[in-house]
Amino acid sequence: MFFLKWFLLLPVLAFASGAGYAQAPGGSAFAPAQIQRGANVFANFCTPCHGERMGNPELFNLREFPKSERDRFINSVSNGKNGMPPWRGQLKPDEIEALWAYVSTGDKD
Ligand code: HEC
Repeated sequence: MFFLKWFLLLPVLAFASGAGYAQAPGGSAFAPAQIQRGANVFANFCTPCHGERMGNPELFNLREFPKSERDRFINSVSNGKNGMPPWRGQLKPDEIEALWAYVSTGDKD
């Protein structure tokens, strides 16, 4: 019984310890609220093409977007790229920044 309880508790502990700040490999940390905001913007504007929670790797696998290329992300999202429309007019700069927080830390839960 003791072991069973401990086993059930493990995922909870893992979640709690990761819930503080997600550390991007580039060295910048994002507040959970900013990542969440990015997830919401993503759900509204990006899922039609990139799939729910970046789950459409056929188009462009956003989960594999290089974490060190923030400027490229901001530029591509703001100005568009080939088949992707520009988002500058529809999204505020801080929303695009939140998208970067979401995409660069990955959707892990
Ligand atoms: C109308 C469909 C469509 C929507 C909506 C869309 N994208 Fe894209 N996106 C694309 C296509 C197509 C590409 C591949 C462009 C290429 O390299 O040919 C792409 C590529 C990208 C890339 C890679 C750019 C690069 O530098 O290689 C990023 C980052 C990206 N999208 C982010 C987003 C974000 C964030 C949103 C929501 C604001 C979004 N996309 C919404 C179609 C879309």
